[in-house]
Order: sequence, then C-alpha cells, then structure tokens
Amino acid sequence: MKLLFIGARLFDDVAPYIKEKGITSILTESNQNSPNLELADSVHIVPRGMEAPLELAINEDVDGVVPLIGIDNPLMQVAHMKEELEKDYQIPVVAPDVAAATISTNKIESKNFFQDNDIKTPAFDIISQGDLSKENNSPNTTTDINSINNIKCPMVLKQAEGQGGKDIKVVLSKSEIDEYFQEFDQALIEKFISGFEISVEVLSWKGDYIPLTAVYKGETTLTGIHPLDKLKSAPAKIEGLDNNLALELAHKITRKLGSDGNTDVDLIFDPEHGELYALEMNTRPSGTRYLTTASTGINPLNEMIDMALGEWKSGNVKKAMKEYAAIEVPVREFKGPRNDSNPKIFSGVNSWIVHGPQKFERVTIRAENSGKISEIAAKLNIDLLKFPH
Ligand SMILES: Nc1ncnc2c1ncn2[C@@H]1O[C@H](COP(=O)(O)OP(=O)(O)O)[C@@H](O)[C@H]1O
Ligand SMILES: [Mg+2]
Repeated sequence: MKLLFIGARLFDDVAPYIKEKGITSILTESNQNSPNLELADSVHIVPRGMEAPLELAINEDVDGVVPLIGIDNPLMQVAHMKEELEKDYQIPVVAPDVAAATISTNKIESKNFFQDNDIKTPAFDIISQGDLSKENNSPNTTTDINSINNIKCPMVLKQAEGQGGKDIKVVLSKSEIDEYFQEFDQALIEKFISGFEISVEVLSWKGDYIPLTAVYKGETTLTGIHPLDKLKSAPAKIEGLDNNLALELAHKITRKLGSDGNTDVDLIFDPEHGELYALEMNTRPSGTRYLTTASTGINPLNEMIDMALGEWKSGNVKKAMKEYAAIEVPVREFKGPRNDSNPKIFSGVNSWIVHGPQKFERVTIRAENSGKISEIAAKLNIDLLKFPH
C-alpha cells in the first residue's frame, strides 16, 4: 500500500506505524528545511497549497491521502482536494469535507452551527465598531455600560479565525472592549463561562464515529491562560460531571458536522449550573493527541492511516481502548531522561514521552493510576504544583 502524507512537521509521530504496517510513504512539504524529511520513502518539496499534492496523488496512484496538518488555514483547500480526489479518482482523503471545514475553521459559523442544532453554547453576538458607538449614544444603556446586547462583562472577544488563543481577549469592562476595537472592526462576543475546560477527540470515517476520552484542560480564567500552558489530564475527574455526557456531546457534534478523520471538540463544564457548553471544534490533528494516546492507547494519527487504508472500524477502536491515568505537563525545557530510539511511543503501562518544540516541551505521563503518575513525575523532577491547572 502507498499513502501520500501532506506536511512533515507531524510525520515523526506516524513514522513508526508506517514502518510497522509496511506502507510506502510519499511526503510533500513546502519547507525544505523542515524536520522529519528523512523519515519518508520519498519527499517532494512543493509550493504551498494543495495543487501539487493533488497532482502527485493522481500521478503516483496512491491508495489514500493523510493530511498531517495541525493548523486551520489550509483546511479549506484540503477539503476541496478531498472532494475532487474522492469523487473523480476514488482516492480517500482523511480530512473534513468542504461543508465541515467551512464550519470548523470559522468560529462564527461554528456558533451558528451549534445554535441550528440545539447544542448548548455560551451566549454570543457579533458586533462591529458601528454597534458600539450606537450603544454609547443610546439613552437606554446608562444602566449597565459594561454590557452589550444583554451580554455582560466579563465577556470573551474573538475573531472568526484563529487558534491557540490568537486574537482572543477576556474583557472585564467597557473600556477594555473599546481597547479591543482599536485593533479590530468586528468581533464575536461571548459570555464568559466560569468552569472547567474539556476536550474530546472524536475519530470518524464515512459515517462511523467514536469519541475517545474526556481530556481535562484546567479552569477558565479571567486572564485567559490558554490550555496550551496548563497542566492537563485524562480521563477528566470533575465533580458533578459524568464523562459520558462529554463523550456523547462530542460524538453528536461530530456526527452533525459530518466530519472525517480526527475532530477535537472543545467544551466547558459549568459546575455551578451543571451545564456543558460547546466552545469550538478543530477538525485536524489536535494538540491533545498525546494525552489521548496516553490514556486510551489509541493514537489518533495512526487511526487516520487505517482510515486511508480502508481498514478502519469504530468497533475495533472500542475493543482496543484502555483507560490509563495520564497527565501532560508544559515543562518548557525537559532535563530528565528520554527514550531516544522511539521518542513518541509509550513503552508500557508506566511510561512517559517528551514532545514539542525546544523551549516549549511537554511531558506526557501514562500510568496505571494517579498515585503512580505522581511517582513518575517525582522521579522526573517535575513539580506538578508549579503549573496552572
Ligand atoms: N466563553 C468562554 N468562557 C470562558 N473562557 C473562554 C470562552 N471562550 C474562550 N475561552 C478561553 O479561551 C480559550 C480559546 O478559545 P477557543 O474558542 O477555544 O479558541 P482557540 O481556537 O484559540 O482555541 C479557551 O480554551 C478558553 O480558555
Ligand atoms: Mg480551542
């Protein structure tokens, strides 16, 4: 079997599985200095965009295409390529189609999608500079100047596109809103939910879906610390929340979205009201994948390869799924021992891996229970109390 992989940056995650399966790998990448180029059977340095990968997939007559793209920007182009390759050439592409990518790559579209499908999401509105000046001049707004269209501060201001907290600000007062609007003409405004962040990766292929585990990503904060900088764990243990509800909600969202591949659904649980809110979804390899792999034994990227090979069934995933305790610590610089021969593979029930770029390294620990996790962390000289969570 021969697969085309798009993007080298995540290729080291899947290289061992590709080898194990005896797959011939063709890799396209636009940056000739990218890491991991040496890991594929053949590499093509191509211009940005999906034209060259599309042509290669056809010319090389590959069995499937696996985009290993961890950012939103290219997803629309990938979706168009998927539709052409699947319809005209019967070559499967493990990625969302145009309809799903349109919704997942745009936070305003995502909010409308939640609303249309009766999925609870924080109250929101879209406002522009003009609406703000109208509010300022209206005689009715004197009662609460720190509120817009019934949404009160604290509120969260976002742009339609962005990830990793980019262009997102939690604001506490009208003056902070004005400040945000010095930079942007329009914003998605959202009620701030005080609670616990959760994300669930859902695997799906051609109408077959399975949610993996509820990853706990810490409390929401008025300073807006992104989960990327927090201590995370799986499966989530949150008082008042049945993880099955989070899994079912993520499953429902992905099914309504009709996405293929890996979808990471972001949720917030409000313990005071016992409500679970949908925040957004990312239809691509997710940053939580190591934690998901640590806890469930299922590696979402390897599963995407099985999808491309036509060998994927949710039932097999369900049978193979484990439930280890797992945590991920944003250590930044890891000084302890590493497993250099297979750096991204957990070597057993009680083990750890180190990943991420230099100075932004993270350690993911898997163990049979949380006591054992603490033991391993102590052995690695990681002070778990030091990290926001
Ligand atoms: N309505 C909200 N209430 C509380 N915190 C929020 C809200 N919306 C966003 N946040 C915070 O901002 C982070 C990023 O928001 P999100 O919509 O997931 O965008 P991104 O694509 O940048 O991850 C969230 O993980 C959370 O910490
Ligand atoms: Mg998010």
